[in-house]
Amino acid sequence: MNDHEKPHVLPRKIYFLIGGSLLFLTIITVTVSFIDMGSLNLIIALGIASFKAALVALFFMHLYYDNKLYIIIFSTSLFFLTVLITLTIADTMRRGDIYEYRDNLITENAAMYDFLGPGGGIFVSSCGGCHVLQGDMGLPNQLKGLNEEFIYYFIDRLEHSRFAMTPFSGTDEERRLLANFLYSKTDKEYKFQSGEEVFNNRCNFCHTIDGDTRPIFDSFYGSTSDDVFDLIPIFTEQIELMVPWLGTDEELRMISDYIESWYKEDGSPKNP
Ligand code: HEC
Ligand code: HEC
Repeated sequence: MNDHEKPHVLPRKIYFLIGGSLLFLTIITVTVSFIDMGSLNLIIALGIASFKAALVALFFMHLYYDNKLYIIIFSTSLFFLTVLITLTIADTMRRGDIYEYRDNLITENAAMYDFLGPGGGIFVSSCGGCHVLQGDMGLPNQLKGLNEEFIYYFIDRLEHSRFAMTPFSGTDEERRLLANFLYSKTDKEYKFQSGEEVFNNRCNFCHTIDGDTRPIFDSFYGSTSDDVFDLIPIFTEQIELMVPWLGTDEELRMISDYIESWYKEDGSPKNP
């Protein structure tokens, strides 16, 4: 410790030498930055910077001439700082890889089910966990009578339906493929038999009549069939979260009569 108390003077020559080297290294850093060597640029720049920092610490800050214990303490702290920064960078720099991988997941999983046809894999990976294709409970059966466009819109609004469905996470293109796939599995000849059925398939996915989920009993309260006929296309057009009215005029008349029947029986309002 004693040697620290004595002022320690270096020959001027050494200061000039070190100062000169620092300037020279700075010129090299700047020059190299104009040459594109990919990731090598960073390594060279950091290498030179570290070397310069070492010169400053050793000579200008006298670490070289001081008690060697200081060098050990100084470099040990530097070492652990490097370890901590490296570990953090190894984590943060790879986040993108993980997210990219997640984005690809649908497409990758989908590829495994290519034998189902285009869109089939997308069905398996995004709906298959909760829905099946075949039988009465199968999704195509529940979508019968609807057009591909309705399905396309509805897939975009799964989270607004009455059922606890997760939002569709694919791209618009994948949504189109899925809609096309599901539509191709439905019974395309099927025609809705009653206004109640039109309501069940075009509105009831998201609304109940009087119950707990977005009841629309009050919204049409007292309306005649003609009113409802005019209102439905307007409502569905204006509220973006809904699916636009995509049914035929015949269906629109059927559902309008049905909604009117909620209110009128012997001329008096009634609950369904
Ligand atoms: C987390 C589970 C889950 C996922 C994933 C899911 N659904 Fe559903 N879905 C349900 C439940 C539960 C119901 C209500 C029960 C039923 O009717 O089958 C339902 C109902 C539906 C209905 C209304 C059927 C009816 O007549 O009641 C449609 C249409 C539908 N889902 C489409 C889809 C589509 C398309 C996908 C994939 C993009 C999907 N769902 C993904 C759980 C899910
Ligand atoms: C994809 C789901 C979905 C479908 C299908 C759907 N709606 Fe809606 N509807 C909504 C949402 C979401 C709102 C907005 C509710 C809110 O703002 O709280 C809404 C609002 C409404 C409103 C206004 C509610 C009010 O406060 O007065 C009416 C009326 C309505 N819908 C009727 C219909 C009819 C009729 C159909 C069938 C032809 C239909 N909707 C189909 C999701 C849907």
